This record gives sequence, structure tokens and C-alpha cells, in this order.
Amino acid sequence: MRLLLFVVLSAWLPLIIGQGALIPEEAGAFIDAMADFFLSKGFKDGVDLIQAIPSSDMSDFADLFSSSMTFLFPRLVPNATLTALLNDTEKIFDVLAYHILDIPLGDHNIPVSPNHTVLPSALNDTAAVLLPPGQRQSLVLTTYPDGSIHVLDQSTDINITSQSTFSIFNVSYGYAVVDELLTAPLGLNDTLKAQNITAFTSNPDIATAINSIGSQSGITLFVPEDAGVVSDIASWTHLNQTSINSIVDSHLIDSILYSNALVGQHSSAAGGQLSFSGSTISLAGGSSANIVKTDVLTDNGVVHIIDKVLLSNPLSSSSGGSSSGSSSSGVRAVALTCSTVVLTTAMTAFILSLLV
Ligand SMILES: *[C@@H]1O[C@H](CO)[C@@H](O)[C@H](O)[C@H]1NC(C)=O
Ligand SMILES: *[C@@H]1O[C@H](CO)[C@@H](O)[C@H](O)[C@H]1NC(C)=O
Ligand SMILES: *[C@@H]1O[C@H](CO)[C@@H](O)[C@H](O)[C@H]1NC(C)=O
Ligand SMILES: *[C@@H]1O[C@H](CO)[C@@H](O)[C@H](O)[C@H]1NC(C)=O
Ligand SMILES: *[C@@H]1O[C@H](CO)[C@@H](O)[C@H](O)[C@H]1NC(C)=O
Ligand SMILES: *[C@@H]1O[C@H](CO)[C@@H](O)[C@H](O)[C@H]1NC(C)=O
Ligand SMILES: *[C@@H]1O[C@H](CO)[C@@H](O)[C@H](O)[C@H]1NC(C)=O
Ligand SMILES: *[C@@H]1O[C@H](CO)[C@@H](O)[C@H](O)[C@H]1NC(C)=O
Ligand SMILES: *[C@@H]1O[C@H](CO)[C@@H](O)[C@H](O)[C@H]1NC(C)=O
Repeated sequence: MRLLLFVVLSAWLPLIIGQGALIPEEAGAFIDAMADFFLSKGFKDGVDLIQAIPSSDMSDFADLFSSSMTFLFPRLVPNATLTALLNDTEKIFDVLAYHILDIPLGDHNIPVSPNHTVLPSALNDTAAVLLPPGQRQSLVLTTYPDGSIHVLDQSTDINITSQSTFSIFNVSYGYAVVDELLTAPLGLNDTLKAQNITAFTSNPDIATAINSIGSQSGITLFVPEDAGVVSDIASWTHLNQTSINSIVDSHLIDSILYSNALVGQHSSAAGGQLSFSGSTISLAGGSSANIVKTDVLTDNGVVHIIDKVLLSNPLSSSSGGSSSGSSSSGVRAVALTCSTVVLTTAMTAFILSLLV
């Protein structure tokens, strides 16, 4: 029955693919042909997923394919993941949409590590990503010195093991085999944990601020690595949530800026100007930091890791370990920290009272 449908459809399908939504039978025949192809190449796990796509998602899935995309086909799907997806097939569409790269990979020059490129996938389901309307979730690719292409921001090192094309009803599509099923970017909390960022969020008020940023759609957050906050974090216990929020907001931009957009000036969510020059980020009237790692993707935007906290007062330039005596360092730390928020007369008086 299915074979007959396949044969009948194959006569006129080429006219239809790429010209609007497919009816479920057309999409089903397209998906069957794709499954046959990848099975013939010996890939079982990925084929299991394709064949389990619910019929309600088949047309949308087939519609993602065009001659200018690349299907990142997973060689292996970890058993637990495969079992979970086959038991919850509604999730398969989004998982596979993240494997569809919106460019022909073969034509693209992927830069050599540590340089990399950010490329859009087909994943734009608002139930799976917290991005501004119409924006697709991205992937970060880099080429290792041995010439192999790797997908960054994954929990394991995943490379592309081969690239080729497959043909369905005389239309040719590009594919690349990724060694393992890819995981779309996680929420902000989990992303920071995966990057071993623990010091910045060890302050409960900062953790609260970060948790709230994690639910905003379309953000760029500069996060200091652990070594960059040791001199600040202890003193911040004295600050209230409002003051902490203003520190965190100096590290936040309310839109998505991947590394190639980190040039010129951008307003922070706290209202100050952030300027970019090479790998340096500077807060107007405040301190600077080096950007040590870019394009760590989250479900709601992107994180760039910096080596120091951005503080909004010139006093901050003496922060970070130049304290002369151990007995005064605690007091200094409080003073410097308060300087990161707008200095009110009352605060100034308070700080002076501590210093005398
Ligand atoms: C994964 O599943 C396959 C097939 O069901 C089975 O043969 C294999 O032993 C499983 N591997 C692990 C590590 O559970
Ligand atoms: C399958 O899903 C159902 C509900 O969605 C859940 O109760 C059950 O534990 C799942 N089974 C496995 C093996 O994951
Ligand atoms: C990375 O890009 C920079 C700027 O374009 C360039 O100077 C550098 O040589 C590149 N590094 C590698 C390893 O290609
Ligand atoms: C997602 O992309 C598809 C294909 O381009 C498009 O039809 C759909 O409207 C998009 N959905 C959202 C929520 O932007
Ligand atoms: C690609 O990944 C596979 C599996 O992890 C690994 O065996 C292989 O060495 C990797 N190749 C390169 C060039 O990194
Ligand atoms: C595919 O192309 C070949 C040769 O160009 C042609 O003979 C055949 O009928 C085509 N098949 C379909 C399904 O269009
Ligand atoms: C985080 O720390 C673990 C354990 O030290 C290490 O294996 C992993 O590579 C680190 N991750 C990153 C992104 O640095
Ligand atoms: C993020 O972490 C904070 C503090 O650890 C926690 O309260 C919050 O529930 C987490 N949010 C999510 C979405 O996991
Ligand atoms: C938080 O602390 C700042 C500086 O000490 C103070 O000006 C502000 O009123 C405080 N806000 C709240 C809500 O307590």
C-alpha cells in the first residue's frame, strides 16, 4: 500500500516540494524515502527518530528541507535519549529541527578554532526557544587544526564525520553526519553550570537576578569567570537586591549579539554604554574586562565570558587585589562595591564613616 502510494506520488512530488505545505501523504512518502536512504547507509538510531515523527508534524518536517540546507544527521542517539523520545514523540520535531542547518555546509568556510561561526538552525518553535519572534536557534561550528568540523556548546565533543548529498524525487539535499544527537541550547542556569560558572551566582541575589534574566526573550549576558570575581563576591553580601540588580544589569544587553556584533557601542540594561574594542569590553565611566570566551548559546540568547566584573565607578579600577593591609581590605571592599551603584549622599556618608 505504502509502496504504491510512493510510486504514484514520486511522479509529481518534485513539482510540489518547496512550493508550500505538503499534504501528510506527500510528506509521509518523502520521510519514508529519507528513512530508506539513511538506513541503506547503516544509520539506525536517527532513522528510528525520523520514522517516529507524529503524522501531525510530518508536513512541517518535510517542509524544512530545501536544496540550500544541510541535514546534520545523527550517527548515534544515546539509548536513554532515544527511549525517552520514542516514548514522547511530540518532542522529535524540535530535536530534528535543530539538526537542520539553514545553509549548504559544503559552501561554507568554517573558521579554525578558537575562531568559530554562529549559524542558524531551523528550530524556531516558541515552546522550545525563548527568542524574539521569527528568530531561529543557532549552532556554533569550528574547524580543528586537523581539518575536522566540531559543534561547540555540546556536553560532549561532537564532530562532523562526513558530508554528502541524498536525492529524493530527483531533488538533491545536503547532509553531514554528526557523531551524536545534538542538544539545543539549555536555559541560562544550566548553561552557566555547564561552563563551570559558580562564583558569580554564589551570591543569592545574583542568582535571583540571573534566574529572572533566564526568562527574558533575547538577551546577551557578559558573565565573569570564577577567578574574576573572588575579590568582589564577599563584599556583595552587604548589598540589597536593587543594588545587585544594577550590577548585573550592567552586564546585560536586551538583544542578541553574537561575537561578530561585539563592536562599537551598545546600551546595557542598566542604561550605561558598553564599548567594544578587539576583545575588550568597557563600561562607560567604569571598568573594563577581557572577553575570554564568546558565543555560549542559551535557549534565550547568548553568554560571553569575561575575566573581571564590570564596575560602574572609576574607584573600581583599584579593586582586585591592590589592598595594602589585610585589616582594611574588608572595609575597602564594601566601599568599592557600593561605588558600583549610583553614589547617593547618604551612601557616601556611610562609606566615609566606615573609612575613618
Ligand atoms: C542500547 O540499546 C541497544 C539496542 O536496544 C542495546 O543493544 C545496547 O546494549 C544498549 N546500550 C546500553 C549502553 O544500554
Ligand atoms: C513514557 O511516558 C509516560 C507518560 O508520558 C511515562 O509515564 C512513562 O514513564 C514513560 N516511560 C518511559 C519508559 O520513559
Ligand atoms: C581568528 O581570527 C582572527 C581575526 O580575524 C585572526 O587574526 C586569527 O588569525 C584567527 N585565528 C585562527 C586560528 O585562524
Ligand atoms: C518557523 O519557521 C517556519 C519555516 O520557516 C515558519 O513557517 C514559521 O512561521 C516559523 N515560526 C515562528 C514561530 O516564527
Ligand atoms: C570524531 O568523533 C569520533 C567519535 O567521538 C572520534 O572517534 C574521532 O576521533 C573524532 N574525529 C576527530 C577528527 O576529531
Ligand atoms: C528523475 O530524472 C530522470 C532523468 O533526468 C527521469 O528519467 C526521471 O523520470 C525523474 N524521476 C522523477 C521521479 O521525476
Ligand atoms: C568544567 O569542569 C569540568 C571538571 O573540571 C571539566 O571537565 C569541564 O571541561 C569544564 N567545562 C568547561 C566548559 O570548562
Ligand atoms: C535557577 O537557579 C535559581 C537559583 O539557584 C533557582 O532558584 C531557579 O529555580 C533556577 N531556575 C531554573 C529555571 O532552573
Ligand atoms: C538598596 O540600597 C541602596 C544603597 O544602599 C539604597 O539607596 C536603596 O534605597 C536600597 N533599596 C531598597 C529597596 O532597600
